[in-house]
Amino acid sequence: MSDQNKPSSATGELENDNTLTNRQGHPISDNQNVRTVGNRGPTTLENYHFLEKITHFDRERIPERVVHARGAGAHGYFESYGKVGDEPVSKYTRAKLFQQAGKQTPVFVRFSTVVHGTHSPETLRDPRGFAIKFYTEDGNWDLVGNNLKIFFIRDPLKFPDMVHAFRPDPVTNVNNMERMFDFLSQTPEATHMVTFLFSPWGIPANYRQMQGSGVNTYKWVNQDGQAVLVKYHWEPLTQGIKNLKQAEASTIQANNYSHATQDLYEAIERGDYPEWELCVQIMSDGPHDELEFDPLDPTKLWPVDQFPFLRVGKMVLNRNPENYFAEVEQASFGTGVLVDGLDFSDDKLLQGRTFSYSDTQRYRVGTNYLQLPINSPKKHVATNQRDGQMTYRVDAGEHQNPHVNYEPSSLGGLQEATQTAKEHQPAYNDRLVHEKISRSNDFAQAGRTYREFDEWEREELISNLIGNLKICKPHIQEKMIEYFTQADPDYGRRVSEGLANAAREGKDHTSSTAADKAVRDAENMGHDA
Ligand code: HEM
Repeated sequence: MSDQNKPSSATGELENDNTLTNRQGHPISDNQNVRTVGNRGPTTLENYHFLEKITHFDRERIPERVVHARGAGAHGYFESYGKVGDEPVSKYTRAKLFQQAGKQTPVFVRFSTVVHGTHSPETLRDPRGFAIKFYTEDGNWDLVGNNLKIFFIRDPLKFPDMVHAFRPDPVTNVNNMERMFDFLSQTPEATHMVTFLFSPWGIPANYRQMQGSGVNTYKWVNQDGQAVLVKYHWEPLTQGIKNLKQAEASTIQANNYSHATQDLYEAIERGDYPEWELCVQIMSDGPHDELEFDPLDPTKLWPVDQFPFLRVGKMVLNRNPENYFAEVEQASFGTGVLVDGLDFSDDKLLQGRTFSYSDTQRYRVGTNYLQLPINSPKKHVATNQRDGQMTYRVDAGEHQNPHVNYEPSSLGGLQEATQTAKEHQPAYNDRLVHEKISRSNDFAQAGRTYREFDEWEREELISNLIGNLKICKPHIQEKMIEYFTQADPDYGRRVSEGLANAAREGKDHTSSTAADKAVRDAENMGHDA
């Protein structure tokens, strides 16, 4: 029997690179049998190798992301066109990564689904996360977006309730769409997002063939400190866009829970690198009272005829992670991670998000999550933030006096950077209030989106809504029909009729009274039922 506690030199044979060791570097010559008194036991407590192995296994999982737990990632690069549309990019932003045509910046991207857990099927009707970490020469920039260009809510205070409502019932742990529609029926601003989500746009075919969007409104700041409002969009290049009908998604789901992860991995392995073009929409900084929507409202699209997509660069994903956990699982993105020349807008949802990401990452990954290779900037880092669990390195200045971990100091500590460009300094003068924005206009764009869909997309939308709404209580159905009707009378009528038919055919749990009421309501709204 081998003695696994002996240092390697004492075991005689010298190991090669493939020799199994424990985490202390001791070679392991018996990885099959614990040490016991005779071969029938009992075991002994000094089984160092066994105890190390099992206790590490016991700690293999970290908390999964509270949302976007299921994901896949890849490395690549972003290449700037050096222009925004036909104009010099420096007119709008001084961010270094955009300035020069052909300049490449390494990136890591994580795609995800949102609501369900880390091994849930990738075919679910759900927004898809599209988060990019740019390792720029000025430090990291994270653009944490989704595939869809808008969001359910505009106030961050609602986010935990929304996620709870979309999750399984806390008693039964069974998914129940009535909970989701209960919330949505009291959240009129979600009607536009619901219209996208229940259409085929709610199930992208995979992660390669989908768009991306920053969703929130950000700012670009130029050398003079002047700002514009900006929205980011990723448009797939050669691979195009593909969405699934519900029936197609269900067929895939019957055979494969990981089809999107597999698709991304295999495409990159065979050299079929997915590419996206980064486009921006730009608006002057201000409230824009002439618009029917507020530019800071993430439930709204900026109409492309007024605010065209301007191309600024492209992204290529060309390398798979070597280790899923170390890279994809531990990757930590946040909306607060901006570089000089990029800024926040007053979009409330964005500001709420910005607090949430690094807060959850200190809990999920640990205090020193920024020291992990996947999260660490690919440039020198020098701070006076020290210690904490799992400190791996000291982020110090090259010539920093190691005794000085504070600033200011006259004894050789770190010094503030010299500001080379004008700071953007927005001015405020208003009351502190709890109020929603004035131009909420919750339904007009939902109606426009409905009308712009192809007919097969509308059919899918109506059928998916009916399939899910028919189990809901009548008052929830009625409220949703009211919202759809306000968006577009045809939209409301088709959902209403579909629910009435479903009830009549006895395919659901709704009473015929509820179905009849849905029909009556549609009639009362002045439409054929
Ligand atoms: C992940 C919060 C809205 C996109 C997360 C995580 C939290 C969070 C706590 C987990 C992060 C982690 O564990 O590393 C919030 C809050 C929101 C909000 C409080 C609203 C107030 C949004 C919106 C988008 C979005 C509007 C899309 C633009 C994402 C993405 C991830 C994520 C893509 C996954 C990032 C990754 O791959 O690691 N969010 N979120 N979130 N969120 Fe949000």
